[in-house]
Amino acid sequence: MLTKEQNDTLTLTGPGTPMGELLRRYWVPALLAAELPQPDCPPVRVKLMSERLVAFRDTQGRLGLVDEFCAHRGVSLWFGRNEENGLRCPYHGWKYDVTGQCVEVPSEPAESGFCKRMRLKSYRLVERGGVLWAYMGPPQDEPPLPELEWATVPDTHRYVSKRLQECNWLQAMEGGIDSSHVSFLHKFNLHNDSWLGNARSAQYLADARPQFEVVESDAGLLIGARRNAEDGHYYWRITQWIMPWYTIIPPFGTASLGGHAWVPIDDENCFTWSMNWHPARPLTEAELAPMRAGKGIHCELIPGTFRPRANRDNDYLMDRRAQQEGRSFSGIDGISLQDASIQESAGRIQDRTRENLVSTDNGIIMARRRLLRAVKALQAQGTPPPAREPLHQRVRSASIVLPRDVAFKEGAREALVAHPDTAPVSI
Ligand code: FES
Ligand SMILES: [Fe+2]
Repeated sequence: MLTKEQNDTLTLTGPGTPMGELLRRYWVPALLAAELPQPDCPPVRVKLMSERLVAFRDTQGRLGLVDEFCAHRGVSLWFGRNEENGLRCPYHGWKYDVTGQCVEVPSEPAESGFCKRMRLKSYRLVERGGVLWAYMGPPQDEPPLPELEWATVPDTHRYVSKRLQECNWLQAMEGGIDSSHVSFLHKFNLHNDSWLGNARSAQYLADARPQFEVVESDAGLLIGARRNAEDGHYYWRITQWIMPWYTIIPPFGTASLGGHAWVPIDDENCFTWSMNWHPARPLTEAELAPMRAGKGIHCELIPGTFRPRANRDNDYLMDRRAQQEGRSFSGIDGISLQDASIQESAGRIQDRTRENLVSTDNGIIMARRRLLRAVKALQAQGTPPPAREPLHQRVRSASIVLPRDVAFKEGAREALVAHPDTAPVSI
C-alpha cells in the first residue's frame, strides 16, 4: 500500500513532476521508425509525458521533434507542410527546421532578423533498432544512446510493435513485473502459444506454485521464479526489469526473446511496446507471421491507429462462454489484451492507498522503492538514475536449471549478460 503522495510521485510524469524529471533522464521510445518512413513524409503527432509534440523527417532525412504548436498564433503544426528542410505552418507560412529554429517568417523582411528570435521547444530524436528515441531531459545530462539488446541486433532479428494502453504507465508496468499472474490470467494460453514451442520447460511448468525471489541488479531487478526440477535442482525463470520501464520475459526453448516497455503518453494513457528478438539469428517467417497478425505479446490494432481492436469500449470482446467452458481463464483473447483489459480495469490511475499486497507482490514493491529512491537522489543531489549506462542495459532474461544450493543470481550470472551473437540460455 502506498500513501497518496507516494502514488502521485510514482504515477504523474508531466513536466516538472518528480517522476517526470527522472524519466526525462532516459532515452524514450517515442515512435516506430516506420511512422516516419522517408524524407518529407507527413509529420506525426507525438504526446509524451503530457507534452504535445510533432515529429518529422526533413528533406535530408534529419529527424525533428518539436512543440506541436506554432510560435505565431498557436495552431497545430501537424497540419503543416513538410518541405525543403523544414515544417511550414499552413496558417501564415512560418517555417521551422528540425531543431525548432524558425527559418522563415514570410510577412517580415528577412533583414529584420525577426525569425532568428523565434524558436520552438525541441528535443533530440534518433533512430535505433526500428525505433525513434527522444531525449527530453537537460541537454548536459544526455546519456549514451540506448544499448538494450533488442535495439542493437540487426533489423532481421527483431520485431517491434506498440499499442495504446488506456491507463497510467505504472500499473501497466507492474503487470509486467508481476510474474505471479501468469498462472491465472494467462493460464490457458501458455501451452498452446506458438512461442512456447515444444520447450523442455513444459514439464517443469506443471509445478503450478512457483516460488519467487527478487534481487536488485545494476539495471533494476532480477525476478526469479523457481520451480522444482530433477533431483536436487530448480528450474528458474528469470525476468529482467531494467529501469525505468523495460522488462525482458524469460525465454522458452529455442524461441525468440520477448520484452516490453511502458511509456507514458500522459498520466492516463501509455504506449505498451512489445519486442521479440533473437540475438543470434534472423526471425523466421513462421515466427514473424503470427507477430504481424497480433499474436503472442503483440496485438491486433484498428487499422491506421495504435488502438487495439478489442478495447474498453467493446469490453475487449469478452467471451463469457469461453470463460465458462474453460477455454480461456479470463474470457479475453490473447495475452496482451488479457493484460491490457485487467490493468485498465483498475481505473486510469490505480488508487494504491486501497491495495493489500502479499508476498508475491515483492517485485512490484521493490521496483516502486527503487524508483522512489532514484527520484529522491535526483532531487536531492542531482544523481543520475540507474541503467543509463550501456553496460547495464546489455542484459537478458534466461530460463535455466540450477542446483538447489546455488543462488540464482550467481548461477545464472553469465546467462543474464547479452553477449553479442549468442543464443539465450533457455530451456
Ligand atoms: S499560426 Fe503559424 S504561421 Fe501563423
Ligand atoms: Fe501478463
